[in-house]
Amino acid sequence: MEKFVINGGKRLCGEVRISGAKNSAVAILPGVLLAESPCVIENLPEISDVRSVCTVLSRLGANVEFLDNTTVRIDPTGVKAFTVTEEMSKSMRASSYFMGALLGRMNHSRVAPPGGCDFGVRPIDLHIKGFEALGAKVMIEDGMVDVKADALSGGYVYLDLVSVGATVNIMLAAVKANGVTVIENAAREPHIVDLANFLNSMGANIMGAGTNAIKIRGVEHLHGVDYSIIPDQIEAGTYMAAAVATKGDVLVTNVIPKHLESIIVKIREMGAKVEENDESVRVSMDTRPRMCKVKTMPHPGFPTDMQPQVAAVLTVGEGTSIINEGVWDSRFRYVEQLSLMGAEVQVDGKRAFINGVEKLSGTRVRAVDLRAGAAMIVAGLMAEGETIIEDIEHIDRGYENVVGKFMALGADIKRIN
Ligand code: UD1
Repeated sequence: MEKFVINGGKRLCGEVRISGAKNSAVAILPGVLLAESPCVIENLPEISDVRSVCTVLSRLGANVEFLDNTTVRIDPTGVKAFTVTEEMSKSMRASSYFMGALLGRMNHSRVAPPGGCDFGVRPIDLHIKGFEALGAKVMIEDGMVDVKADALSGGYVYLDLVSVGATVNIMLAAVKANGVTVIENAAREPHIVDLANFLNSMGANIMGAGTNAIKIRGVEHLHGVDYSIIPDQIEAGTYMAAAVATKGDVLVTNVIPKHLESIIVKIREMGAKVEENDESVRVSMDTRPRMCKVKTMPHPGFPTDMQPQVAAVLTVGEGTSIINEGVWDSRFRYVEQLSLMGAEVQVDGKRAFINGVEKLSGTRVRAVDLRAGAAMIVAGLMAEGETIIEDIEHIDRGYENVVGKFMALGADIKRIN
């Protein structure tokens, strides 16, 4: 198995270009199934989750052709299959988006429950509630979620809690339904807006994406388009956290600074200087981070997907920091790994108390999930000595060329077998 080896203590300096957003890509690619002619999707991140979604698309019968490393042409016209098996879907959470996309395309989908990161229970009851509001029947048979309708008609869906996945799935299922669908208490993440922009450019009629009420007027036909994915907010945040951790000076380019607001606020509280430009942010730091309180929430709150990376920075902060996880039940599994490096963290349910220490020491740790893996890189970069990170396939699911990008900033990091 491959591992990362990091020799910590190098100050990160220079420029890093952010790739396309993973969470947009994994929603937009299944959305191509709704088009009646080919689509070209640009600015895709080169990550294994994108390759997995493209493999599912071609196994369903789409013609998938990479024009270059970050651009794919997909012709969905030949797709007749509506089944995504467990073997096809096990590695990624986003396989659930095939439920909404196939339902929207052919009124039937049969998809194995999604895989992806393990944050405790990952229910899909709100996705099901949405499909049912559109007139579909949902059955769980032989471990597969079967969703079927004679015809889909618009409906009113109130999400009992803000769910990104349910919002995406209902949008995908509703764009071609008869009549109007309203999603109340919808997620407002940048990738929800990106998906709506993509579907609207195909001829859909979606209003209110980015607010908590999304209104979708069903249309009969959607045509293929060329579409470019937004930059990845979490990849950007991870490099910003690494700059803070190593007392570096890093220009993070190809970003939408507005999407980074909550992260910028927190790293400024830690003592970092952040300069916001039109399409880049520069982060510099010259002191030990100050303690900080972080509560994760749906957008525009602080993103749960940045929680582990920021916790890693705060392990060497001055004073005691408190992290409150407001989205997932169980997202502190990585704490044990940080403790192996000398961090002092106490977890109490959905809260973690971090007592800042002078320094971390390199050792052998594991990436327990994607963002936890990113946190181990941040920790390794600032630790004294050598850190070996195992189970890095999680990191490869979501970070393009992570070794190359950190090396270009001056990090001593390599991938070994
Ligand atoms: C997406 C992101 C993930 C991020 C999360 C929250 C993708 C591919 N993944 O995951 O990286 O951590 O948003 O920003 O975009 N819930 C229910 N019932 C449901 C659905 C969700 O109770 O039917 C709960 C979950 O248990 C969780 C909360 O809602 O506590 C948020 O989940 P959700 O926003 O749906 O996350 P994902 O879409 O899976």
